[in-house]
Amino acid sequence: MANDAADAPIDLRLLPRSAAVDAAGRLSIAGCDLAQLADTFGTPLYTYDEDELRTRCREYLAAFDSVAYAAKAFLCTAMARLVDEEGLLLDVATGGEAHVAHTAGFPARRMAFHGNNKSELELRLALELGVGKIVVDGNDELDRIEALVGAGFPPPRVQLRVTPGVEAHTHEYIATGADDSKFGFTVSNGAALDAATRVVKSEAMEFVGFHCHIGSQILVLESYARAATVVAQLVAEVVDTLGRPVEEVNLGGGLGVPYTADDLDAPSIREFATEVRHAYARACAAVGLDPRPRLAVEAGRSIAGPSGVTLYRVGSIKEIPGVRTYAAVDGGMSDNPRPVTYGARYEAFLPARATAHRPALVTVAGKHCEQGDILVKDARLPADLAVGDVLATPVTGAYAASMASNYNLVPRPAVVFLRDGTARLVVRRETFEDLVVRDRLEAERSGS
Ligand code: LLP
Repeated sequence: MANDAADAPIDLRLLPRSAAVDAAGRLSIAGCDLAQLADTFGTPLYTYDEDELRTRCREYLAAFDSVAYAAKAFLCTAMARLVDEEGLLLDVATGGEAHVAHTAGFPARRMAFHGNNKSELELRLALELGVGKIVVDGNDELDRIEALVGAGFPPPRVQLRVTPGVEAHTHEYIATGADDSKFGFTVSNGAALDAATRVVKSEAMEFVGFHCHIGSQILVLESYARAATVVAQLVAEVVDTLGRPVEEVNLGGGLGVPYTADDLDAPSIREFATEVRHAYARACAAVGLDPRPRLAVEAGRSIAGPSGVTLYRVGSIKEIPGVRTYAAVDGGMSDNPRPVTYGARYEAFLPARATAHRPALVTVAGKHCEQGDILVKDARLPADLAVGDVLATPVTGAYAASMASNYNLVPRPAVVFLRDGTARLVVRRETFEDLVVRDRLEAERSGS
């Protein structure tokens, strides 16, 4: 086959910076041979380059006054500790995320508690832990907070999530800035200003400012400028009508990452930061905000995504002449539901033959009982792909492990952190026993 761009080996820019290929064509990350990791820990396996995670945290911290990591992208005890060590804040969106972070020792005062329908239980947990702030999504939550403070909890710091009426360029399921959104207080109809008035006047909470997250996997940055303009205008109105300064504006997360070689011109963290900081400064200047509220962001995908590579083993290959070749791996939509959910595209490669050209057009399927269980449609792979090969999908560090399910009662994969040639098991693989521990019958059997 011709040695053209289409059959090129995997582009190392889709992998963590430590990715290296030895003379035999074997790929290592952080000094760990990927194919060997599959032998040692089994497959599927989520691998993370710890230094890549840390470098990305530092890139954000160098560029913004205040940075939170969005736990929803990927959280476990080791990740919470890494984020703590790096000095970021943590966005938790549920009681579960808050619990894992707290159990890991992450200081509550550096957590922001999010979510568009926080239960009384979750708000109670937030107050008990003493989280740094609660990002309130609606009036019902303000009612619940007032009731809890009335019952004796100390008044929390409250930031208001607002929807600025901005359409981000991304998949509609993950666009959150438009007026037609389940999230936040609408700016255009006055709901956001009303909520700010309520919080400022309430004895039950302390007003921190506004939060605005317009969506995720955003590669066209101009939407941030429009969001900043709307929020700066809102801040100016609060300053005018309520006569008090606003402490912070959080413009959320959302920076997209390249998933395939086609997207390699995606903006970097530094470019994102320059764009967002300038847009924010311009928006504040336009409405005469001086001093301006502290600018904060909250990133998930652009920290965790490119730091992760998932390993699978090929179990069967089915060639349908003139139609398609399927290679089925030992995971699928349960460990990475993004292709099924958003039509997300990935690449695949063989870590033991990373410099091999990839002339074969193969659809990488999972092991679930659905035709739609496809991980990579039309993947490019080496012509000698064989049963038993370890196959890797790069850029799977965000919203894969965190969105994994037990569909077909497939146990969820283990997670390893890689650093300096050492692989550290940070989440063990689920076992068949784990699949029955919550079952009633099992509880009866053990007498509990
Ligand atoms: N802050 C808030 C309030 C959010 O809702 C999110 C993501 C983030 C920050 C982090 O956004 P990021 O930097 O990761 O784009 N499951 C989808 C993505 C959903 C994003 C939800 N919110 C996916 O796999 O594409």
